[in-house]
Amino acid sequence: MGNTTETTNQIKVKWRCPSNIAIVKYWGKKGIQIPCNSSLSLTLSNSYTEVEATLHEKTTLESVELNYYFEGELNEKFGKRVADYLADNIEVFPYLRMGAVTIHSSNSFPHSAGIASSASAFGAIALAMLDIAYQLEEKELDDDFYRRASEMARLGSGSACRSIFPSYALWGQNDAIEDASDDYAVEVTQIHPIFKDMRDAILIIEDEPKKVSSTIGHSLMNDHPFAAQRFTQANKRTAELVDILAEGDVDSFIHICESEALTLHAMMMTSTDYYLLVKPGTITAIEKIMQFRLENMVPVCFTLDAGPNVHILYPDKYQEAVEDFINDELKDIYKKVIFDHEGQGPQKLSI
Ligand code: PMV
Repeated sequence: MGNTTETTNQIKVKWRCPSNIAIVKYWGKKGIQIPCNSSLSLTLSNSYTEVEATLHEKTTLESVELNYYFEGELNEKFGKRVADYLADNIEVFPYLRMGAVTIHSSNSFPHSAGIASSASAFGAIALAMLDIAYQLEEKELDDDFYRRASEMARLGSGSACRSIFPSYALWGQNDAIEDASDDYAVEVTQIHPIFKDMRDAILIIEDEPKKVSSTIGHSLMNDHPFAAQRFTQANKRTAELVDILAEGDVDSFIHICESEALTLHAMMMTSTDYYLLVKPGTITAIEKIMQFRLENMVPVCFTLDAGPNVHILYPDKYQEAVEDFINDELKDIYKKVIFDHEGQGPQKLSI
């Protein structure tokens, strides 16, 4: 096999999976990683995780024997989370009853960059572990493989399920969209040329770990006073965004994108146990982006994930103008900037 190393009892695979940035945000979940509303994201390119997984003989009696290395060092904390995830899904990875697995994982972005790595990490882990299962069953890596990988990624970290698909991906049941599902993401294929190769400049405002994890943030939506309206709004916006992307309606894209970022943070600020993740630099960057758009008629907008860092989104043809603006006018606000863009989805790598 071209890019797989196989000996009698060893299988080794390697996958690269990108991160993604949500335009319509997933915030609130129920049951086993079921989203309370649908969401739609842009898959990135330069921000990715690579995972090399090797299936080999067991050396202990553990039900799941996993050695998890992150950037060359044994990482017991994340390794425990991954081992629990594999044990919970042992029927999908039945080879773990007989064999052990060693995972070597690394990120393309610096650890301190404040970029959420669980989407790309669980995307890559799900792809690699499912690839091994498919090889043992002598099955092809067809569309069904990617759908199942998306489902398995979701069980590791919700938003990871969207990273399995190129360009734009939608996750979560939605009455207005026929093939949308709570179990896995689907690719949004009707994209107007203006939204192709969309750019995302990630301004790292703060590189410290988050004060409040996404897990806690999601749980605060359970008794949130505005939860019902929020879920209805997000579902409506997801359906609208599908049409906006197909039609090339840049103004509506900007409106939904920025309002989603502010709504996500408004949810945090208005939950019973309220909290604040934006920093002064976040606000300054947002104001400058809005002002630059108004003065220069350049369709650039911002979004945020669950942290203080600002993602600046703009169509490819405005790259020069926006990058000059970032380098000239925002340089005192960010610690670092990562220039990323729409990506083609995960990749199986040769070993
Ligand atoms: O996948 P999680 O549990 O890390 O949650 C991600 C939540 C947001 O990044 C804030 C929004 C999203 O849809 O990605």
